[in-house]
Amino acid sequence: MSSVSICRRLKQVNKTSSPYISAEGVELRREKLSRRCFEVEESTIRDILKVLSRKDVISFAGGIPDPDTFPHEDIERAFSKCMRENWRKALQYTESQGVRELREEIARFMQRLDRGSPDPDNVIVTSGSQEALYILSMTLLDPGDVVIVERPTYLAMLQVLKSMSAKIIDVELKDDGIDVEALDTVVKKLEREGENVKMIYVVPTCQNPTGITMSIDKRKQLIEIAEKHDLYIVEDDPYSYYLYDNVENLEPLYKLCPERVIYCSTFSKILVPGFRVGWIVAPEDLVSHIVKMKQIVSLQTTTVTQYVLAELLKDGIIERRLPELSQRYRKKRDAMLEALETYMPSHVTWTRPVGGMFVWVKARPDIDTTRLLNIAIEKYGVAYVPGEAFYATNPQRNTMRLNFTYPSARDIFEGVKRLGEMLKEV
Ligand SMILES: Cc1ncc(COP(=O)(O)O)c(C=O)c1O
Repeated sequence: MSSVSICRRLKQVNKTSSPYISAEGVELRREKLSRRCFEVEESTIRDILKVLSRKDVISFAGGIPDPDTFPHEDIERAFSKCMRENWRKALQYTESQGVRELREEIARFMQRLDRGSPDPDNVIVTSGSQEALYILSMTLLDPGDVVIVERPTYLAMLQVLKSMSAKIIDVELKDDGIDVEALDTVVKKLEREGENVKMIYVVPTCQNPTGITMSIDKRKQLIEIAEKHDLYIVEDDPYSYYLYDNVENLEPLYKLCPERVIYCSTFSKILVPGFRVGWIVAPEDLVSHIVKMKQIVSLQTTTVTQYVLAELLKDGIIERRLPELSQRYRKKRDAMLEALETYMPSHVTWTRPVGGMFVWVKARPDIDTTRLLNIAIEKYGVAYVPGEAFYATNPQRNTMRLNFTYPSARDIFEGVKRLGEMLKEV
């Protein structure tokens, strides 16, 4: 039987069972796919991705850095050096935990920047921090285990947790971080009900999506609660390395309690996302288990990229550019805040992040930003991520996430003006 006729046969069978139309418009039979394929809301994300390449639409949707910040010449030099001097190792398979030289450089980098003093043996190199979140979840969670998250929280972590069939409980995020009292109450209640509460996932500094930063008091209280209930904290920290304002006392949770906090970060925001390299610092007893999961998922992170990164860290190139990164993005953050002040109607409020990439906007309660997205794109020529996607439960549909690092300051003003017009007219 030719492959064409096999395809036809499958499609006919699909018609008699419960069909599902995939992103590509192909009919599929639900029962042939895993449950996790249907856990992720596709439609909004699909609409947003389509507009990224459109010249007539200003996009605040992506969580992406400004490519003008990419030090491509430094990277080219580091690659050349690596190919000249170290090609035998750099082009070979390597340890699943990560190239030793890179783990040592990451440990020194964190120490120099006052993020704690990790031992290189506790560092695991991952393919972006997305993989870090995935393999950590694989390591800690069985189906039905409870994970506490901020409300709202990072969309892709929600997807990971759903794919693990975890029970996701969200706790309100206040202006200074997660509501620790509500958290304590909720964990006590879950424990009384016999639930297996395994971990708390937080983005304490310049959170995605809200830009909110957790105060030092809350950081300490959060650790106390985790201690009291014997829970791991997963601290996801892509954004603390380049702040725009002087904020004192932003100790990473990891530095406050390395035995209980599993720290993740990434080179995506401080160097380039295209390298796809992130890292985990984990307590000693977890390391071998996390490395086992890493082996299952990807065997190892690309060797050559790890050697190039080690070289860039050793030369101090990543650190030296952090002030420039802050300066460039501070201007864009300020442009967005000024534009919001200028163009938004009075029913709209927003956060004022001290770093990171996002401002979180809240409109009148009756406004549904998911339903408005198509109008925003087609009529007003502006895109955002509707807030709904960042909620584990009961989404606040009047919210949206705006990215300010990718668009130019001029586009920020024009795009916010368009958004403001839309929110005045609806
Ligand atoms: C909070 C958070 N965690 C993890 C990631 C994933 O980053 P990457 O996989 O590029 O390292 C992002 C990216 O935007 C993020 O905002």
